[in-house]
Amino acid sequence: MTLQSALKTTILFIISLINHATVNKPVAPPDPTARSNECSIPSKYASSNGTADDSPAVLAAFVTCNRNAVIHFGRGVDYNILTPIKATNLNNVMIHMQGNLHLPRDIMAVQKVVSGSVESALSKPLYWFEFAGPGIDFLGNAYEDGWIYSYGQAWWDANPTDATGLALRPQLMSLNTTYGSLQHFKSRQPIAGNVRLIGSNIAVTDAIIDARSNSSKFPFNTFGFAVSGANISLTNSVIFNGDYAIAIQPDSHNINFDGATIGFASRGMTIGPIGEDPNVFASISNIRFNDVTLIDSLYAANIRTWAGGQGLIKDVSWSNIRNFNVTFPIFVTQAYSNPNGKQHSGKQSTSDVLLEGVSFKEFSGTINTFHPGDGSCVTDPCWYNVGWPGLTHTEYVIFNCSTELSCRNITTANIWVYPENGETSKIICVNLKRNLNPTLGFPCGSG
Ligand SMILES: *[C@@H]1O[C@H](CO)[C@@H](O)[C@H](O)[C@H]1NC(C)=O
Ligand SMILES: *[C@@H]1O[C@H](CO)[C@@H](O)[C@H](O)[C@H]1NC(C)=O
Ligand SMILES: *[C@@H]1O[C@H](CO)[C@@H](O)[C@H](O)[C@H]1NC(C)=O
Ligand SMILES: *[C@@H]1O[C@H](CO)[C@@H](O)[C@H](O)[C@H]1NC(C)=O
Ligand SMILES: *[C@@H]1O[C@H](CO)[C@@H](O)[C@H](O)[C@H]1NC(C)=O
Ligand SMILES: *[C@@H]1O[C@H](CO)[C@@H](O)[C@H](O)[C@H]1NC(C)=O
Ligand SMILES: *[C@@H]1O[C@H](CO)[C@@H](O)[C@H](O)[C@H]1NC(C)=O
Repeated sequence: MTLQSALKTTILFIISLINHATVNKPVAPPDPTARSNECSIPSKYASSNGTADDSPAVLAAFVTCNRNAVIHFGRGVDYNILTPIKATNLNNVMIHMQGNLHLPRDIMAVQKVVSGSVESALSKPLYWFEFAGPGIDFLGNAYEDGWIYSYGQAWWDANPTDATGLALRPQLMSLNTTYGSLQHFKSRQPIAGNVRLIGSNIAVTDAIIDARSNSSKFPFNTFGFAVSGANISLTNSVIFNGDYAIAIQPDSHNINFDGATIGFASRGMTIGPIGEDPNVFASISNIRFNDVTLIDSLYAANIRTWAGGQGLIKDVSWSNIRNFNVTFPIFVTQAYSNPNGKQHSGKQSTSDVLLEGVSFKEFSGTINTFHPGDGSCVTDPCWYNVGWPGLTHTEYVIFNCSTELSCRNITTANIWVYPENGETSKIICVNLKRNLNPTLGFPCGSG
């Protein structure tokens, strides 16, 4: 061995040691070709005229076929899912969802399930479908089938005026996986939130969420995706709902939300709320939202951090965002408090969740000036107007940083959104200093 090659070997050895010591290696992806077990789930829906419960058969399939398996919901077959499906020990399983799933139509029956659940005793949300384990692929149907019907309209209609949703509502689905996917997820009239997504290396494609209310009643809390994890992409989504379409929650890294149509009374694309627990450092980085059309939504791009929280939101971008009749195209606040007026318990006013490297580029369209807001308003002033006495609803950007140091390297470029009433668009801006934000792109009132 020459001296040179010995040196090279030693260096490579040292590099490999460093790699082993510092890189948190992700688990290897499971092998989809090893899914040799198959379970086809029978349905009693047709033979019972839509009365029998198919959940026992579904649960049985998730026991028999919990690893290296494909679970088939028959093409175009209806299934009553009258009790929650919890399958949290899956490994390398494809859920081939070619049928249609029906939650109970009876509100009180669902409330009874929720109130009697372990989750409820622990003050946690109950997910009607809870899937966990590595290598879960949920493959829906690209055509007419593959819907999950939750019959949420009845829940929204039963919500008393001035209330923000019935008690004991379940969430629809939790998917906690690594190297997995959610393809052609289709949800109609969810009772409340749609999908909590946790894990890493997950691809969500072609989701359709339809939480439009057909009455004057608002579909409260019908969020689309609540995401936390790493290396997650959501592509080609259609989300019409009454809460955020996508919310990035801590800790999250490398998330792409690309290609979407968002509407009805959606709250758009949000990061947060972050920093609720003042003792936990929240970390969010490398988040991209690109190529999105928003129609009638409350926000387009939105960041909310709790006053007194701690953490860092870094390298976030929104680009190619088309707004039609959007109330707040760009809305960032570091002084968040819960819409229900909940305040930070252990507020440490000296700390903030820092924002660093956040950009907004290529925004086009119109600002909702004639009927600003949405039907979620049950207080006067509305929760989304509280704390903004000077609002004219012609603002294209609203930015409230809690200190002159807490927002850095914020960039806007090519923002072409105009108030519907023809007035000049305005800015509300607090604490964005020019020296820390050299490419801000607009004059900040106090900065
Ligand atoms: C995410 O992807 C990056 C880049 O490919 C990789 O370095 C990292 O290990 C991945 N993280 C996880 C948790 O898989
Ligand atoms: C089937 O159920 C529907 C209502 O869901 C009812 O109108 C119909 O009479 C039932 N048919 C039979 C054969 O029981
Ligand atoms: C998700 O799955 C991982 C790995 O199995 C587990 O450690 C974690 O607690 C799960 N997260 C939730 C919120 O259930
Ligand atoms: C609204 O939806 C509910 C539930 O799907 C249905 O029963 C009702 O007829 C619909 N009402 C209107 C006005 O379309
Ligand atoms: C704009 O959105 C508001 C709130 O959703 C709605 O009431 C109004 O009809 C919309 N305006 C137009 C022009 O679509
Ligand atoms: C500022 O943010 C942009 C992305 O918005 C990034 O490319 C650049 O490196 C950042 N600069 C600094 C000094 O952080
Ligand atoms: C901005 O946030 C501060 C708290 O940091 C709050 O007191 C103030 O009302 C907010 N300003 C506006 C214009 O909302």
